[in-house]
Amino acid sequence: MVNSDFVQQDFQHRLMILPPQGIGLSVDVYSPDLFELVNTLRERGLQPGYLEVFKASTTALTAVRRAVPDMALAYHGEGLWITQPDVQESPFFQQDVGEMVTQLNSIQSLWLNHECATKQMAGYSFGTYVPPLYTQLSAEVVAANIATVQQAMDRQGRRADGTAPLFLLEMPPLTYFSAGTIPIPHFFRLVTALAPCGLVLDIGHLWTVYRYTTACRRISLDRFVQEFLDEFPLERVVEIHMAGLACHESVGEPKAGEELLEWIDAHAAPIPSILFTMLEQVLAHPNLVSLRAVALEVDTKPIEMIVEEYAAAVRRFSLLVQQTMSRGTGVEQLMGLRPRPASVEKPMCQSHRQQLCDDYARYAQIISGQAPVTGPEWQDVAAEATGVTRYRTSYVPHEILHWGGDLTEMFPQTCRALVERGVCLTEFVAFWFRSPRPLTRSYDFFLLKIERFLEFVTERAPDVRGCVQQECDMLRQAYAQVNEVGEPVMEMERTR
Ligand SMILES: [Fe+2]
Repeated sequence: MVNSDFVQQDFQHRLMILPPQGIGLSVDVYSPDLFELVNTLRERGLQPGYLEVFKASTTALTAVRRAVPDMALAYHGEGLWITQPDVQESPFFQQDVGEMVTQLNSIQSLWLNHECATKQMAGYSFGTYVPPLYTQLSAEVVAANIATVQQAMDRQGRRADGTAPLFLLEMPPLTYFSAGTIPIPHFFRLVTALAPCGLVLDIGHLWTVYRYTTACRRISLDRFVQEFLDEFPLERVVEIHMAGLACHESVGEPKAGEELLEWIDAHAAPIPSILFTMLEQVLAHPNLVSLRAVALEVDTKPIEMIVEEYAAAVRRFSLLVQQTMSRGTGVEQLMGLRPRPASVEKPMCQSHRQQLCDDYARYAQIISGQAPVTGPEWQDVAAEATGVTRYRTSYVPHEILHWGGDLTEMFPQTCRALVERGVCLTEFVAFWFRSPRPLTRSYDFFLLKIERFLEFVTERAPDVRGCVQQECDMLRQAYAQVNEVGEPVMEMERTR
Protein backbone atom coordinates (compact mmCIF):
# COMPACT_ATOMS: atom_id res chain seq x y z
CA MET A 1 0.00 0.00 0.00
CA VAL A 2 1.38 3.42 -0.91
CA ASN A 3 1.49 5.97 1.88
CA SER A 4 0.17 9.24 0.48
CA ASP A 5 2.31 11.32 2.90
CA PHE A 6 5.35 9.57 1.53
CA VAL A 7 4.19 10.24 -2.04
CA GLN A 8 3.60 13.91 -1.22
CA GLN A 9 7.09 14.22 0.29
CA ASP A 10 8.58 12.54 -2.74
CA PHE A 11 6.80 15.08 -4.95
CA GLN A 12 7.93 18.01 -2.78
CA HIS A 13 11.50 16.90 -3.02
CA ARG A 14 11.32 16.68 -6.80
CA LEU A 15 9.57 20.04 -7.02
CA MET A 16 12.13 21.79 -4.83
CA ILE A 17 14.80 21.54 -7.50
CA LEU A 18 12.58 23.01 -10.24
CA PRO A 19 13.31 26.72 -10.64
CA PRO A 20 10.43 29.07 -11.60
CA GLN A 21 10.27 29.65 -15.36
CA GLY A 22 7.61 32.32 -15.78
CA ILE A 23 5.61 32.63 -18.98
CA GLY A 24 6.89 30.54 -21.88
CA LEU A 25 5.71 28.75 -24.99
CA SER A 26 4.81 25.15 -25.68
CA VAL A 27 5.96 24.58 -29.24
CA ASP A 28 6.55 22.15 -32.05
CA VAL A 29 9.97 22.04 -33.72
CA TYR A 30 8.46 22.12 -37.19
CA SER A 31 5.12 23.83 -37.16
CA PRO A 32 5.63 26.73 -37.18
CA ASP A 33 9.38 26.62 -37.68
CA LEU A 34 10.79 27.01 -34.19
CA PHE A 35 13.93 28.91 -35.16
CA GLU A 36 11.93 31.41 -37.17
CA LEU A 37 9.56 31.86 -34.24
CA VAL A 38 12.35 32.46 -31.70
CA ASN A 39 14.03 34.95 -34.05
CA THR A 40 10.80 36.85 -34.66
CA LEU A 41 10.17 37.05 -30.92
CA ARG A 42 13.71 38.32 -30.36
CA GLU A 43 13.30 41.00 -33.04
CA ARG A 44 10.28 42.24 -31.08
CA GLY A 45 12.27 42.23 -27.83
CA LEU A 46 10.50 39.15 -26.49
CA GLN A 47 12.25 36.22 -24.83
CA PRO A 48 10.06 33.32 -23.64
CA GLY A 49 10.76 32.25 -20.05
CA TYR A 50 11.21 28.70 -21.36
CA LEU A 51 10.20 26.49 -24.25
CA GLU A 52 8.31 23.24 -23.87
CA VAL A 53 9.08 21.25 -27.00
CA PHE A 54 6.84 18.55 -28.40
CA LYS A 55 8.32 15.14 -29.23
CA ALA A 56 10.28 15.22 -32.50
CA SER A 57 13.29 13.36 -33.88
CA THR A 58 16.23 13.26 -31.44
CA THR A 59 18.35 14.99 -34.10
CA ALA A 60 15.90 17.88 -34.30
CA LEU A 61 15.69 18.18 -30.52
CA THR A 62 19.48 18.20 -30.20
CA ALA A 63 19.59 21.00 -32.79
CA VAL A 64 17.11 22.99 -30.70
CA ARG A 65 19.25 22.54 -27.59
CA ARG A 66 22.28 23.83 -29.49
CA ALA A 67 20.44 26.76 -31.05
CA VAL A 68 19.16 28.15 -27.74
CA PRO A 69 21.85 27.15 -25.22
CA ASP A 70 20.71 29.62 -22.59
CA MET A 71 17.03 28.88 -22.69
CA ALA A 72 15.41 26.42 -20.29
CA LEU A 73 13.72 23.59 -22.20
CA ALA A 74 11.01 21.16 -21.19
CA TYR A 75 9.61 18.15 -23.04
CA HIS A 76 6.05 17.39 -24.13
CA GLY A 77 5.99 13.63 -24.55
CA GLU A 78 3.68 11.49 -26.64
CA GLY A 79 2.97 7.82 -27.09
CA LEU A 80 3.31 6.49 -23.53
CA TRP A 81 -0.29 5.46 -23.10
CA ILE A 82 -0.23 5.51 -19.31
CA THR A 83 -4.02 5.37 -19.03
CA GLN A 84 -3.99 1.84 -20.38
CA PRO A 85 -3.98 -1.18 -18.03
CA ASP A 86 -1.96 -3.31 -20.47
CA VAL A 87 0.53 -0.67 -21.67
CA GLN A 88 3.46 -2.14 -19.78
CA GLU A 89 2.89 -5.49 -21.51
CA SER A 90 3.13 -3.87 -24.93
CA PRO A 91 6.23 -5.13 -26.76
CA PHE A 92 7.09 -1.49 -27.50
CA PHE A 93 6.68 0.06 -24.05
CA GLN A 94 10.31 -0.30 -22.92
CA GLN A 95 11.53 0.99 -26.27
CA ASP A 96 9.16 3.99 -26.12
CA VAL A 97 10.24 4.84 -22.57
CA GLY A 98 13.89 4.50 -23.61
CA GLU A 99 13.41 6.86 -26.55
CA MET A 100 11.59 9.33 -24.34
CA VAL A 101 14.45 9.33 -21.80
CA THR A 102 16.99 9.85 -24.60
CA GLN A 103 15.01 12.83 -25.82
CA LEU A 104 14.65 14.27 -22.32
CA ASN A 105 18.42 14.02 -21.95
CA SER A 106 19.05 15.53 -25.38
CA ILE A 107 17.43 18.80 -24.31
CA GLN A 108 18.30 18.56 -20.59
CA SER A 109 14.61 18.80 -19.94
CA LEU A 110 13.04 20.26 -16.82
CA TRP A 111 10.21 17.74 -16.92
CA LEU A 112 8.23 15.26 -18.95
CA ASN A 113 4.72 16.46 -19.64
CA HIS A 114 2.33 13.77 -20.85
CA GLU A 115 -1.40 13.91 -21.41
CA CYS A 116 -3.54 11.69 -19.24
CA ALA A 117 -5.00 10.32 -22.46
CA THR A 118 -4.42 7.71 -25.11
CA LYS A 119 -4.64 7.20 -28.85
CA GLN A 120 -4.67 3.42 -28.59
CA MET A 121 -6.85 1.18 -26.46
CA ALA A 122 -7.56 -2.55 -26.48
CA GLY A 123 -6.14 -2.96 -29.99
CA TYR A 124 -8.05 0.01 -31.48
CA SER A 125 -6.23 3.13 -32.70
CA PHE A 126 -7.34 6.74 -32.89
CA GLY A 127 -5.72 9.85 -34.33
CA THR A 128 -6.28 12.25 -31.44
CA TYR A 129 -6.35 11.97 -27.65
CA VAL A 130 -9.09 9.98 -26.00
CA PRO A 131 -9.54 10.79 -22.28
CA PRO A 132 -9.34 8.04 -19.67
CA LEU A 133 -12.32 6.36 -18.08
CA TYR A 134 -12.82 8.45 -14.99
CA THR A 135 -13.07 5.60 -12.47
CA GLN A 136 -11.18 4.62 -9.34
CA LEU A 137 -9.61 1.56 -10.97
CA SER A 138 -8.46 3.65 -13.89
CA ALA A 139 -6.84 6.21 -11.54
CA GLU A 140 -4.91 3.39 -9.86
CA VAL A 141 -3.61 2.16 -13.21
CA VAL A 142 -2.53 5.65 -14.25
CA ALA A 143 -0.65 6.11 -10.96
CA ALA A 144 1.11 2.74 -11.28
CA ASN A 145 2.16 3.47 -14.87
CA ILE A 146 3.44 6.93 -13.95
CA ALA A 147 5.51 5.46 -11.10
CA THR A 148 7.11 3.02 -13.55
CA VAL A 149 7.98 5.81 -16.01
CA GLN A 150 9.30 8.04 -13.20
CA GLN A 151 11.53 5.21 -12.01
CA ALA A 152 12.95 4.83 -15.53
CA MET A 153 13.65 8.58 -15.61
CA ASP A 154 15.29 8.37 -12.19
CA ARG A 155 17.55 5.55 -13.42
CA GLN A 156 18.46 6.81 -16.87
CA GLY A 157 17.37 10.42 -17.09
CA ARG A 158 19.68 12.10 -14.66
CA ARG A 159 20.83 15.57 -15.62
CA ALA A 160 24.29 17.03 -15.19
CA ASP A 161 23.47 18.04 -11.62
CA GLY A 162 22.33 14.50 -10.72
CA THR A 163 18.62 15.32 -10.58
CA ALA A 164 15.97 13.68 -12.75
CA PRO A 165 13.07 15.26 -14.66
CA LEU A 166 9.66 15.15 -13.02
CA PHE A 167 6.62 13.46 -14.56
CA LEU A 168 3.86 16.01 -15.12
CA LEU A 169 0.43 14.64 -15.94
CA GLU A 170 -1.80 16.89 -18.03
CA MET A 171 -5.57 16.83 -17.63
CA PRO A 172 -6.74 16.09 -21.18
CA PRO A 173 -9.41 17.87 -23.19
CA LEU A 174 -12.87 16.43 -23.64
CA THR A 175 -14.09 16.08 -27.19
CA TYR A 176 -17.88 16.13 -26.83
CA PHE A 177 -18.18 13.52 -24.04
CA SER A 178 -16.71 12.20 -20.79
CA ALA A 179 -17.18 8.66 -19.47
CA GLY A 180 -16.71 7.54 -15.89
CA THR A 181 -18.19 7.04 -12.45
CA ILE A 182 -16.26 9.64 -10.42
CA PRO A 183 -15.82 13.41 -10.86
CA ILE A 184 -12.70 14.43 -12.80
CA PRO A 185 -11.08 16.39 -9.91
CA HIS A 186 -11.55 13.33 -7.68
CA PHE A 187 -9.80 11.16 -10.28
CA PHE A 188 -6.71 13.38 -10.24
CA ARG A 189 -6.77 13.47 -6.45
CA LEU A 190 -6.61 9.66 -6.44
CA VAL A 191 -3.72 9.64 -8.94
CA THR A 192 -1.68 12.18 -6.99
CA ALA A 193 -2.25 10.33 -3.73
CA LEU A 194 -0.57 7.30 -5.30
CA ALA A 195 2.11 8.79 -7.59
CA PRO A 196 4.63 11.60 -6.91
CA CYS A 197 3.81 13.39 -10.16
CA GLY A 198 3.07 17.04 -10.79
CA LEU A 199 0.12 18.16 -12.89
CA VAL A 200 -0.46 20.41 -15.86
CA LEU A 201 -3.72 22.31 -15.80
CA ASP A 202 -4.72 23.32 -19.30
CA ILE A 203 -7.28 26.12 -19.07
CA GLY A 204 -8.85 25.31 -22.45
CA HIS A 205 -9.17 21.67 -21.44
CA LEU A 206 -10.87 22.85 -18.26
CA TRP A 207 -13.34 24.79 -20.43
CA THR A 208 -14.15 21.59 -22.34
CA VAL A 209 -14.78 19.80 -19.04
CA TYR A 210 -17.42 22.43 -18.27
CA ARG A 211 -18.87 22.21 -21.75
CA TYR A 212 -19.01 18.43 -22.14
CA THR A 213 -20.09 17.31 -18.67
CA THR A 214 -23.41 18.01 -16.99
CA ALA A 215 -21.89 21.15 -15.38
CA CYS A 216 -22.80 23.49 -18.24
CA ARG A 217 -26.49 22.65 -17.79
CA ARG A 218 -26.39 23.11 -14.01
CA ILE A 219 -24.14 26.04 -13.10
CA SER A 220 -22.32 29.09 -14.45
CA LEU A 221 -18.77 28.78 -15.76
CA ASP A 222 -17.47 30.95 -12.95
CA ARG A 223 -19.06 28.73 -10.29
CA PHE A 224 -17.92 25.57 -12.07
CA VAL A 225 -14.29 26.76 -12.08
CA GLN A 226 -14.49 27.63 -8.38
CA GLU A 227 -15.95 24.24 -7.43
CA PHE A 228 -13.55 22.38 -9.69
CA LEU A 229 -10.48 24.13 -8.27
CA ASP A 230 -11.60 23.48 -4.71
CA GLU A 231 -11.70 19.72 -5.44
CA PHE A 232 -8.81 19.36 -7.86
CA PRO A 233 -5.31 18.70 -6.37
CA LEU A 234 -4.24 22.22 -7.28
CA GLU A 235 -1.24 22.00 -4.95
CA ARG A 236 0.28 19.58 -7.48
CA VAL A 237 -0.10 21.88 -10.47
CA VAL A 238 3.39 22.78 -11.68
CA GLU A 239 2.51 24.14 -15.11
CA ILE A 240 -0.49 25.85 -16.67
CA HIS A 241 -1.26 25.62 -20.39
CA MET A 242 -3.26 28.06 -22.48
CA ALA A 243 -4.27 27.19 -26.03
CA GLY A 244 -6.93 27.99 -28.58
CA LEU A 245 -10.42 26.56 -28.85
CA ALA A 246 -12.49 26.23 -32.01
CA CYS A 247 -15.36 24.34 -33.58
CA HIS A 248 -14.14 21.28 -35.42
CA GLU A 249 -14.21 21.39 -39.20
CA SER A 250 -16.41 18.30 -39.33
CA VAL A 251 -19.11 20.08 -37.30
CA GLY A 252 -19.58 23.19 -39.42
CA GLU A 253 -20.06 26.83 -38.51
CA PRO A 254 -21.86 27.65 -35.25
CA LYS A 255 -25.39 28.95 -35.56
CA ALA A 256 -25.92 32.67 -34.88
CA GLY A 257 -26.88 33.35 -31.26
CA GLU A 258 -25.73 29.91 -30.10
CA GLU A 259 -24.83 30.37 -26.45
CA LEU A 260 -22.55 27.49 -25.68
CA LEU A 261 -20.36 26.85 -28.65
CA GLU A 262 -19.18 23.33 -29.38
CA TRP A 263 -15.54 24.30 -29.09
CA ILE A 264 -12.83 21.72 -28.73
CA ASP A 265 -9.07 21.97 -28.11
CA ALA A 266 -7.51 23.65 -31.18
CA HIS A 267 -3.91 24.82 -30.96
CA ALA A 268 -3.97 26.71 -34.26
CA ALA A 269 -6.94 28.84 -33.18
CA PRO A 270 -6.73 32.10 -31.22
CA ILE A 271 -6.98 31.87 -27.43
CA PRO A 272 -10.49 33.13 -26.60
CA SER A 273 -10.71 35.87 -23.96
CA ILE A 274 -12.83 33.71 -21.67
CA LEU A 275 -9.75 31.55 -21.04
CA PHE A 276 -7.79 34.55 -19.77
CA THR A 277 -10.64 35.29 -17.35
CA MET A 278 -10.45 31.68 -16.18
CA LEU A 279 -6.66 31.97 -15.86
CA GLU A 280 -7.10 34.92 -13.50
CA GLN A 281 -9.45 32.84 -11.40
CA VAL A 282 -6.99 29.93 -11.29
CA LEU A 283 -3.97 32.10 -10.42
CA ALA A 284 -5.92 33.68 -7.56
CA HIS A 285 -6.72 30.33 -5.92
CA PRO A 286 -4.79 29.90 -2.65
CA ASN A 287 -4.13 26.18 -3.25
CA LEU A 288 -1.95 26.91 -6.28
CA VAL A 289 1.34 26.71 -4.37
CA SER A 290 3.61 24.66 -6.66
CA LEU A 291 3.33 26.63 -9.88
CA ARG A 292 6.58 26.95 -11.83
CA ALA A 293 5.47 27.93 -15.32
CA VAL A 294 2.69 29.07 -17.62
CA ALA A 295 2.88 28.24 -21.33
CA LEU A 296 0.87 29.34 -24.31
CA GLU A 297 0.58 26.22 -26.47
CA VAL A 298 1.21 27.49 -29.95
CA ASP A 299 2.11 24.58 -32.23
CA THR A 300 0.51 24.92 -35.69
CA LYS A 301 -0.33 28.59 -35.04
CA PRO A 302 0.78 31.42 -37.39
CA ILE A 303 3.90 33.19 -36.03
CA GLU A 304 2.28 36.64 -36.11
CA MET A 305 -0.58 35.45 -33.92
CA ILE A 306 1.84 33.79 -31.49
CA VAL A 307 3.87 36.98 -31.11
CA GLU A 308 0.75 39.08 -30.49
CA GLU A 309 -0.76 36.64 -28.01
CA TYR A 310 2.52 36.13 -26.18
CA ALA A 311 3.19 39.87 -25.86
CA ALA A 312 -0.35 40.44 -24.57
CA ALA A 313 -0.10 37.57 -22.07
CA VAL A 314 3.23 38.87 -20.73
CA ARG A 315 1.82 42.40 -20.34
CA ARG A 316 -1.26 41.19 -18.51
CA PHE A 317 0.00 38.24 -16.45
CA SER A 318 3.74 38.55 -15.84
CA LEU A 319 3.46 40.07 -12.40
CA LEU A 320 0.59 37.84 -11.33
CA VAL A 321 2.45 34.72 -12.45
CA GLN A 322 5.62 35.84 -10.63
CA GLN A 323 3.61 36.41 -7.45
CA THR A 324 1.89 33.03 -7.74
CA MET A 325 5.18 31.20 -8.35
CA SER A 326 6.77 32.83 -5.32
CA ARG A 327 3.96 31.50 -3.11
CA GLY A 328 5.40 28.02 -3.06
CA THR A 329 9.13 28.26 -3.48
CA GLY A 330 10.03 29.55 0.00
CA VAL A 331 7.87 27.08 1.87
CA GLU A 332 9.54 23.89 0.68
CA GLN A 333 13.00 25.09 1.59
CA LEU A 334 11.83 25.59 5.14
CA MET A 335 10.58 22.03 5.25
CA GLY A 336 14.13 20.64 5.15
CA LEU A 337 13.22 17.74 2.90
CA ARG A 338 15.79 15.07 2.24
CA PRO A 339 16.22 13.18 -1.02
CA ARG A 340 13.75 10.33 -1.42
CA PRO A 341 13.63 7.41 -3.82
CA ALA A 342 10.74 7.31 -6.30
CA SER A 343 7.57 5.95 -4.81
CA VAL A 344 6.86 2.32 -5.53
CA GLU A 345 3.68 1.53 -7.38
CA LYS A 346 0.99 -0.51 -5.75
CA PRO A 347 0.60 -3.81 -7.61
CA MET A 348 -2.90 -4.19 -8.98
CA CYS A 349 -4.64 -7.55 -8.87
CA GLN A 350 -4.95 -9.31 -12.20
CA SER A 351 -8.74 -9.51 -12.17
CA HIS A 352 -9.06 -5.74 -11.70
CA ARG A 353 -6.61 -5.12 -14.48
CA GLN A 354 -8.52 -7.50 -16.76
CA GLN A 355 -11.78 -5.77 -15.83
CA LEU A 356 -10.33 -2.45 -16.90
CA CYS A 357 -8.99 -3.93 -20.15
CA ASP A 358 -12.55 -5.08 -20.91
CA ASP A 359 -13.92 -1.64 -20.00
CA TYR A 360 -11.49 -0.01 -22.42
CA ALA A 361 -12.38 -2.47 -25.19
CA ARG A 362 -16.02 -1.46 -24.72
CA TYR A 363 -14.96 2.22 -24.60
CA ALA A 364 -13.27 1.93 -28.01
CA GLN A 365 -16.24 0.10 -29.51
CA ILE A 366 -18.72 2.63 -28.13
CA ILE A 367 -16.94 5.76 -29.36
CA SER A 368 -16.25 4.28 -32.78
CA GLY A 369 -19.92 3.41 -33.17
CA GLN A 370 -19.50 -0.38 -32.99
CA ALA A 371 -21.38 -0.87 -29.70
CA PRO A 372 -24.37 0.78 -27.97
CA VAL A 373 -23.75 3.49 -25.35
CA THR A 374 -24.38 1.35 -22.26
CA GLY A 375 -22.61 0.47 -19.01
CA PRO A 376 -22.10 2.17 -15.65
CA GLU A 377 -19.45 4.63 -16.95
CA TRP A 378 -21.73 5.73 -19.78
CA GLN A 379 -24.92 6.73 -17.97
CA ASP A 380 -24.43 10.52 -18.20
CA VAL A 381 -23.17 10.19 -21.78
CA ALA A 382 -26.23 8.18 -22.82
CA ALA A 383 -28.58 10.66 -21.12
CA GLU A 384 -27.22 13.48 -23.28
CA ALA A 385 -26.36 11.50 -26.38
CA THR A 386 -25.69 14.40 -28.78
CA GLY A 387 -22.02 14.58 -27.75
CA VAL A 388 -21.10 10.96 -28.25
CA THR A 389 -23.19 10.82 -31.43
CA ARG A 390 -21.24 13.77 -32.82
CA TYR A 391 -17.99 11.99 -31.94
CA ARG A 392 -19.08 8.71 -33.55
CA THR A 393 -20.68 10.07 -36.68
CA SER A 394 -18.59 13.16 -37.51
CA TYR A 395 -15.36 13.38 -35.54
CA VAL A 396 -14.11 9.79 -35.86
CA PRO A 397 -14.85 9.43 -39.60
CA HIS A 398 -13.08 12.75 -40.21
CA GLU A 399 -10.08 11.52 -38.24
CA ILE A 400 -9.79 8.28 -40.21
CA LEU A 401 -10.47 9.78 -43.65
CA HIS A 402 -8.86 13.22 -43.48
CA TRP A 403 -6.91 14.04 -40.34
CA GLY A 404 -3.15 13.44 -40.16
CA GLY A 405 -3.21 12.55 -43.86
CA ASP A 406 -6.16 12.95 -46.22
CA LEU A 407 -6.70 9.64 -48.02
CA THR A 408 -7.52 11.23 -51.36
CA GLU A 409 -4.24 13.19 -51.22
CA MET A 410 -2.19 10.26 -49.94
CA PHE A 411 -3.60 7.76 -52.46
CA PRO A 412 -4.91 9.78 -55.45
CA GLN A 413 -4.74 6.95 -58.00
CA THR A 414 -6.12 4.28 -55.71
CA CYS A 415 -8.99 6.51 -54.60
CA ARG A 416 -9.95 7.15 -58.24
CA ALA A 417 -9.84 3.41 -58.93
CA LEU A 418 -12.05 2.73 -55.90
CA VAL A 419 -14.65 5.25 -57.10
CA GLU A 420 -14.70 3.57 -60.51
CA ARG A 421 -15.39 0.24 -58.79
CA GLY A 422 -18.17 1.69 -56.63
CA VAL A 423 -16.23 1.35 -53.36
CA CYS A 424 -17.04 4.25 -51.05
CA LEU A 425 -14.19 5.60 -48.90
CA THR A 426 -16.43 5.89 -45.85
CA GLU A 427 -16.46 2.07 -45.71
CA PHE A 428 -12.85 2.39 -44.57
CA VAL A 429 -14.03 3.76 -41.20
CA ALA A 430 -15.99 0.62 -40.35
CA PHE A 431 -13.11 -1.49 -41.66
CA TRP A 432 -10.67 0.38 -39.38
CA PHE A 433 -12.71 -0.45 -36.27
CA ARG A 434 -13.94 -3.88 -37.36
CA SER A 435 -11.74 -5.77 -34.91
CA PRO A 436 -8.92 -5.14 -32.45
CA ARG A 437 -5.42 -5.55 -33.83
CA PRO A 438 -2.18 -6.52 -32.14
CA LEU A 439 0.38 -3.71 -32.13
CA THR A 440 3.06 -4.09 -34.77
CA ARG A 441 5.09 -0.99 -33.93
CA SER A 442 5.22 2.08 -31.70
CA TYR A 443 2.25 4.36 -32.28
CA ASP A 444 2.38 6.28 -35.54
CA PHE A 445 -0.98 7.27 -36.98
CA PHE A 446 0.38 8.04 -40.44
CA LEU A 447 2.07 4.66 -40.87
CA LEU A 448 -0.95 2.94 -39.41
CA LYS A 449 -3.16 4.65 -41.98
CA ILE A 450 -0.94 3.35 -44.76
CA GLU A 451 -0.94 -0.20 -43.36
CA ARG A 452 -4.71 -0.32 -42.85
CA PHE A 453 -5.56 1.27 -46.20
CA LEU A 454 -3.44 -1.33 -47.99
CA GLU A 455 -5.40 -4.08 -46.23
CA PHE A 456 -8.71 -2.39 -46.98
CA VAL A 457 -8.03 -2.02 -50.68
CA THR A 458 -6.64 -5.55 -50.92
CA GLU A 459 -9.91 -6.87 -49.48
CA ARG A 460 -12.41 -4.64 -51.31
CA ALA A 461 -10.72 -4.22 -54.67
CA PRO A 462 -8.04 -6.91 -55.07
CA ASP A 463 -7.29 -5.83 -58.65
CA VAL A 464 -6.12 -2.43 -57.36
CA ARG A 465 -3.54 -4.04 -55.09
CA GLY A 466 -0.56 -3.18 -57.31
CA CYS A 467 -1.54 0.47 -57.48
CA VAL A 468 -2.11 0.90 -53.75
CA GLN A 469 1.10 -0.99 -52.97
CA GLN A 470 3.05 1.45 -55.13
CA GLU A 471 1.49 4.49 -53.46
CA CYS A 472 2.15 2.97 -50.01
CA ASP A 473 5.83 2.44 -50.86
CA MET A 474 6.20 6.03 -52.04
CA LEU A 475 4.56 7.41 -48.91
CA ARG A 476 6.64 5.26 -46.58
CA GLN A 477 9.83 6.25 -48.35
CA ALA A 478 9.03 9.97 -48.19
CA TYR A 479 8.07 9.64 -44.53
CA ALA A 480 11.28 7.82 -43.62
CA GLN A 481 13.32 10.50 -45.36
CA VAL A 482 11.50 13.23 -43.48
CA ASN A 483 12.12 11.53 -40.15
CA GLU A 484 15.75 10.86 -40.95
CA VAL A 485 16.66 14.42 -41.76
CA GLY A 486 14.39 15.65 -39.00
CA GLU A 487 12.69 18.18 -41.18
CA PRO A 488 9.04 18.54 -42.06
CA VAL A 489 7.76 18.20 -45.58
CA MET A 490 4.12 17.42 -45.57
CA GLU A 491 1.03 18.43 -43.74
CA MET A 492 0.23 14.74 -43.37
CA GLU A 493 2.73 14.17 -40.64
CA ARG A 494 0.79 16.37 -38.22
CA THR A 495 -0.66 13.75 -35.96
CA ARG A 496 -0.86 15.61 -32.70
FE1 LIG B 1 -2.04 21.42 -23.09
